[in-house]
Formats: sequence, structure tokens, C-alpha cells
Amino acid sequence: MEHKELEAMVENMTLREKVGQMMQLTGSFFSEDGVITGPMSEIKFEPEVLKNTASVLNIPGGTALKQFQEAYLKENPHGIPLVFMADVIHGYRTVFPIPLAQGCSFDPELVKKAAGIAAKESAAAGFHVTFSPMADLVRDPRWGRCMESTGEDVFLNGQMARACVEGYQGDSLKQEGTIGACLKHFAGYGAAEGGRDYNTVDMSELSLREQYLPAYREAVEAGTALVMTSFNTINGIPATANKWLMEDVLRKEWGFDGVLISDYGAVIELMKHGVAATKEEAGQLAMEAGLDLDMVSPVYGTTLEKLVKEGKVPEKWIDRAVLRILELKDKLGLFDNPLRFPELMEKEDEIQLCKEHREVAEKLAEESMVLLKNEGILPLDPKNMQKKTIALLGPYADSRELLSTWTLFGKEEDTVTLKEGMEAVTNASEQTEVRYLVEEGCHILDPEEELVGFHQQIVKNDWSETEIEAHLQNAVEYAAQADVVVLALGEHTQHSGESASRASLRLSKGQIRLFEEVSAVNPNVIVVLFSGRPLVFPEINVGAKAILQAWRPGTEGGNAAANLLFGNANPSGRLSMTFPKHEGQIPAHYNRLNTGRPALGRSDRFLSTYCDVGEFPEYPFGYGLSYTDFAYSPVKTDKKVYEIEEDIKVSVEVTNVGDRGGTEVVQCYVQDMVGTTARPVRELKGFQRVYLEPGEKKQVEFIIKEPQTRMITRTGEWKTEPGMFRIYVGKDSSAADNFEEVEKFSIK
Ligand code: BGC
Repeated sequence: MEHKELEAMVENMTLREKVGQMMQLTGSFFSEDGVITGPMSEIKFEPEVLKNTASVLNIPGGTALKQFQEAYLKENPHGIPLVFMADVIHGYRTVFPIPLAQGCSFDPELVKKAAGIAAKESAAAGFHVTFSPMADLVRDPRWGRCMESTGEDVFLNGQMARACVEGYQGDSLKQEGTIGACLKHFAGYGAAEGGRDYNTVDMSELSLREQYLPAYREAVEAGTALVMTSFNTINGIPATANKWLMEDVLRKEWGFDGVLISDYGAVIELMKHGVAATKEEAGQLAMEAGLDLDMVSPVYGTTLEKLVKEGKVPEKWIDRAVLRILELKDKLGLFDNPLRFPELMEKEDEIQLCKEHREVAEKLAEESMVLLKNEGILPLDPKNMQKKTIALLGPYADSRELLSTWTLFGKEEDTVTLKEGMEAVTNASEQTEVRYLVEEGCHILDPEEELVGFHQQIVKNDWSETEIEAHLQNAVEYAAQADVVVLALGEHTQHSGESASRASLRLSKGQIRLFEEVSAVNPNVIVVLFSGRPLVFPEINVGAKAILQAWRPGTEGGNAAANLLFGNANPSGRLSMTFPKHEGQIPAHYNRLNTGRPALGRSDRFLSTYCDVGEFPEYPFGYGLSYTDFAYSPVKTDKKVYEIEEDIKVSVEVTNVGDRGGTEVVQCYVQDMVGTTARPVRELKGFQRVYLEPGEKKQVEFIIKEPQTRMITRTGEWKTEPGMFRIYVGKDSSAADNFEEVEKFSIK
């Protein structure tokens, strides 16, 4: 549509109708014939407002959605279609691993492919926009939503956020099978104090700009259609009313001209935050911050008209917001066809969960799982397993609960369990006949624990004392008879996700007891851990022969884990988030600043550490084992002295010195040795997945471009300062012995 036509559409609407275009509601506000129903019907939206509602979220897709659009269009006086948005966070019907796990793949190309599949399946079901990617940097595993982030590193997060936007949106939103991306949660939501969801964020502008903002910016530069505000206050001002963040940073500095939407109910929450005394004040604050779309709150729909009439909100602000929303609808092609891709929708059944999509889900799950420990027990070579017995124990042994709280459209019944995956591998090998003894051994929750699900359902352990003992004894008997134990442990699905923060990151007491009793009768215990966050498991770190971190791996989780356990695939996942030794070490992230300690000439007790657990984590960022080994040559740079704008070319030779093919994630870190502001001990600036056959070597090159050495200076500028830099290349963020010093200098 010509831009002039969109402008004319805005002109032809009454103020009341325009207000409607600034609201997003749940389906419960409408019935098929457009009548207000549902729990929020007490909000007295005027019919003209409701009939012009811009968008509806998270309704069922397919035929129901088609009917919804048709019914709505019969009522809408201007023929402006609804835009359907939904939380498609890690896949639609084909569910990929959670984003935190996807981060561990260090494979933005594959993440982009997965996002493309999620887009195609969503578009086939009739959705137009997904509330993803989430680029919130996370350093606190107590926060349940760290599962929705790609981790603790600013560079990795940026690459992944860009990959998702490009995957969802393709080259153009008119292209069949694309959907609009909505970057969230702007900004700093991952830094909630104490890891408690929705909590206050208080941080320096330096940290915000250096660590937290760049990944969002990458997604904006990749062209995300929408941005969502976050629930938290940031330095005293809720993000949704934060004019500096939204207008100065997002719009003016970064040039974002798409739609800015609030998070669910965040506008009315301005009253709870105590920055607005009335709904009207909340509306005015959100308008002043430039918020276009109010997600499921009564504020815009019931106050904007009044605010305009009282002269508190200029009508031209309303026009600007409505125009942006109409531009979005136009970009999506909704004015050409309110269903966008009706032919694709016809083929929905063939598209959802097709073989090709499952294959990508399996590959991404394989690349996302991280081998944390291996005392030579893995892989279990199927050829050596002839007539052997595997005790497959634990609450995740044969569980389909491998999705997450953010899989609104994925189904557990489509999910492959660990047992099914393992059986599929061993059955496929003709010479191998493996006996499986399968037993949960314990309930995933301890009896005293009670969780509340998204739909207020109570989740608890309803086993009797007798059942608890019987399951445990059975597991111990199986373990005693087996050659190997595969023990599948972890968190409950409801332990992670929104509003699922935990103070303790331990496994349940029942699971630890199961591990201990099983280990007492069989020393060959391989633990497979399913969780939405880094956990703390000292007993298992010491006692298990191997540990595979499987996260919440999605539809193909069981196949992926089985491929890794039996060596059909070689682990290549590397941690996107540090695993602390103890909750008391949190925040534990690799790119910390140095302190002044040890003080010069002293190495005594006055150190920045914990006297009980030390300061080093259990497993650092970037860490992960393989079934082969890689050797690194010393790092080389093409020069020793560079001018400020010059690229730094870094190279290293990596050799597979083991006896099987494998992929190494070669990681390049930089440390700016001296700055006008203190610099992190190292920062990831590049990574590459490199596959090598046994004995094969490869020259791996990184180019560090000038903007990557920028920092916030003492005077608040964003620039590269002259000085010495150390370049590290290695296997993980703790690889300190392989580095090169170079100098960047400025002629002036
Ligand atoms: C979450 C968002 C989500 C929105 C819509 C909110 O509670 O914070 O991440 O996109 O709901 O479901």
C-alpha cells in the first residue's frame, strides 16, 4: 500500500477508533460474533474501541484463527485486519531446545534455520508475529527466565538475536512462511535483583551500554519489526515509562522506527510500581515514552481519549503510533490478504512437524547438549554393548516432559523420550542386543514441594511413602544387575520460565538419594541432566562417571541425547552460561572486572573470593567436552601494532589429536589491558565451529573489527582507546595460557 493511503486511513478514523488500534487483547474479549466475553469484560471498552483493536495474542491457530479474523473484519469499519501475535519462543509445533541451550550450540546459522522453521509453522497456522527473540543478558541462574535467553555473553547474544530475527523475517515479510519478530524485553530484564522475576534493575549506564544493550541493538539492526518493553524498573523508572530508553536510545540513537509494544499488562503496572497514581497518569507516562501498543491492560483503551481532550497527550502522538501499527500491518501484507498466506495455511497439516523440521530439531538439540564430565565411559559404543544391560533410571528416563513452559503449541505426545531414543539407536544396530531396565526411581519433586503452573494447576509429588521406597528399591536392584546406569535427572518443567525463580539450584533430595544409592551398587553411572538453567550438583560432579547437560531439549530431545550417549554424534555444545559451584557465587560470569587484589607484593588472605567455595565456578562459560581432543598452536596476529581503525587478524592452528572426528568451538577472547574505565578480564569477540577428522588440522582466522574494541570511556564516549590488548584463543573462557599481546595506537 502507498504510504499516503496509510496516512489517509489514519485521517479517516475517529479518535476513539484510533485508540482501538493501540490495543492488544486476549481472545477472551471476543466471541466468534465479536461480543465481549471473558474474565476482563468488566473493563468497559467502548464498542468502537473494541471493534478497532489492533491485535490479539496467543489464541489457537488454524481454522479457529481464520474464523476469528473473518468475524472481526465484519465488525471493523475500516477493513483493517487484526495482527495475530503469539509466544513462539523455541519452535511452534516442532519444538527446538530452549534458547539457553540454543546458545550452547554457538551455531547462529542453525539457530536461524530453526527460527525459519518456527516461522513457517506459525505462518501456516495463521500467526503473523512472534514475541521473540529475547536478548536479555543473564548472569543469574536463579532467574527462571534465563532459559529464554541465549546466555551471559553480549557478543554471543547479539549473534543469536540477529540469527533469530533473520530466520523469522526472511528477506521480506511478504515472503511466504515468514513472521515478524518482536525483540524483548527492552531493557535489562535479565538483571533483576536477586534473580527474582519482575524485580528492580539498578545498574550503571556503563554496564547497561557495554553489556546489556548491544544484543538488543543487533536485533534492531537486523530489522526486528517490533520491540517489547520490559516489566522492570531501570534505575528507578519502569522501562515502559522510560522516555530515555525508548525515545533517546531506541528511537533516536538506534533509529528504530517499528512498533513499540508493552509487555503483558505493563502499562497498568505503572500504578503498582508507584510512578502513576491513576490510570490516566499511567497512560500519559507510556505515551510520553513513545509506547505504541498496550498489551492487555485497560489503560490506553480507557484513558487516551480523555488525555487528548484534556490536552495532556497531543493527538499527533496518537496518529504517529497508529501509523506505525498500520505500517506494520502493511509490511506483513495484511492489507493484501488478511490471512497473509492462505495457500500455506491450506498445507498446515503437512508442514507441522514434518520430517525435515524434526531433523533440524534433532541436530540443534545435539549441538546444544554439553558434555560436562567424562571419565572415559562415554560414548557407549553399541558394538561393545552386545548382550549388555543398561539400567535407565530417573524421572526423565521415559518422560515426554522435555518441552518448556513456553511451548504453547508444542505437544508432549510428539516428543521422543530418552528411552525411545536409546532403543532406536541400539535397535538400529544389528549386532547389538541391549537389555534395558527402566525405572523412575523417584518422583521429580520432593513430597513437600508444590509448584503452581501457568494455568494455576498445582504440581506436586503424590506418591505415598510406600511407593517412594518401592520405586527406589526397584531402581537400586536394576542398577545392581546392570553393566551401566544411565540416570536421567533434573528440574520440573515448572521450575523454569516466567515467574519461576529459585533460591536453591539443587536437585530434589529424592534425586540425590537415588543417585547415591544407585552409585553405591554400580560405579558406572552416567547422569543426563534436564533443566532450564545451570544447576548446582556437587555430589554428582564428584560421583558420576559422566554428565551430559541436556537442558530442555524439545521434541527430538530423546533422539539427540541417545545419539550423543552412543557416539552417533560427538558432543560439540559449549556452555552459554557459567555453572557456579554454589548459589552464593552468583552472579558468576566470566567477563568480570579485575579487583585491586591481590594487592601488589602480597598474596595473603585479603583477596576477593569466598573462603568456603572460592571464586571459580564449577564449569565456566564456553566449556564443554568432546569425544576427541583438540590442540592449539600459539595465537598469531598479522601485526603487532595497529592503528585504531585497523582490523586485527588473528589466526591459530587447531588440530584434532584424538581418534574420532569432532567439532571444536574455537573461541577468541580479547582483554583491553588498561583503559580509562576498568576493563573485563576477557571478552568474547569471535567463535567458529570447526569440524576436524582425526589428525586433521586447520588454520582458523578471526577478524576483530574496530567497533569490537570499543568501550565506554571515563568521559562517557563509546570508542576504542589506544593501548595494549591481549588476544586469547582457546576452548573456553578459562583458557588463559594461549594468548598474544598486540597494541592499538592512535596517531593523534
Ligand atoms: C511475558 C512476555 C510474553 C508476554 C505475552 C509476558 O508475561 O513477559 O515475554 O511475550 O507475556 O505472552
